[in-house]
Amino acid sequence: MLLELEHIEKRYATPDGKNSLIILRDISIKIADGESIAILGPSGSGKSTLLNIMGALDRPTAGEIRLAGQDLSKLTNQELASVRNQQIGFIFQLHHLLPQCTALENVLIPTIPHEKYKNAPESINRAKELLKRVGLGNRMNYRPGQLSGGECQRTAVVRALINKPKLILADEPTGSLDQQTAESLGKLLHELNQEQKVAIVMVTHSTALANLMNRRFQLSNGTLNQIS
Ligand SMILES: Nc1ncnc2c1ncn2[C@@H]1O[C@H](COP(=O)(O)OP(=O)(O)OP(=O)(O)O)[C@@H](O)[C@H]1O
Ligand SMILES: [Mg+2]
Repeated sequence: MLLELEHIEKRYATPDGKNSLIILRDISIKIADGESIAILGPSGSGKSTLLNIMGALDRPTAGEIRLAGQDLSKLTNQELASVRNQQIGFIFQLHHLLPQCTALENVLIPTIPHEKYKNAPESINRAKELLKRVGLGNRMNYRPGQLSGGECQRTAVVRALINKPKLILADEPTGSLDQQTAESLGKLLHELNQEQKVAIVMVTHSTALANLMNRRFQLSNGTLNQIS
């Protein structure tokens, strides 16, 4: 199993610090290598909270989480950072590209912590191949301000894939795009999921996008239920 969540609970302290609010009550899910999953649910139901826990950006208040068999609760923050960088690719609603860097440079940023991959011809070639694959062969030297919203999101997709992660976590990756651009980005993610053999967990409000995934789950009242 690639990712296993067992009885995950997440509470947040209220702003006055006197109480805690339970956001995720009891979440269990197993995700196999190469699988694709959509998570649907109303605003405030805890979708981003769940994705952040899956991506080791945040820790649960109870329960167990294992990535490729490794118990994430036993890792230090530094070890978690390394797991995130090497095994997980993130795509957010807003692309978070660095404005002063070109598309190619942005894509190469996750390779910087690796002595082996940093500035390696192998990394640069992979970046260029993937940028061509997503239709940005003629935009590699453009900066985000010179790219369209959809082009920025495609750059962010390539950045998420550059370190050959086993898992892509996408939090409303098409949320800032018009419907047609959103659909083509969704199809692209689906194709890359198959081609690159990378599992994908996508939070989306779009049933059309959710229908491209292998399985669909609804998050409500702190629990996750498979709907199809
Ligand atoms: N750091 C925090 N401290 C306290 N409460 C938080 C914190 N982060 C999130 N919450 C609360 O947890 C709940 C779930 O938030 P979350 O961002 O996971 O929802 P979501 O399902 O992603 O919503 P949306 O669809 O609007 O993005 C919200 O009610 C929010 O107020
Ligand atoms: Mg959210």
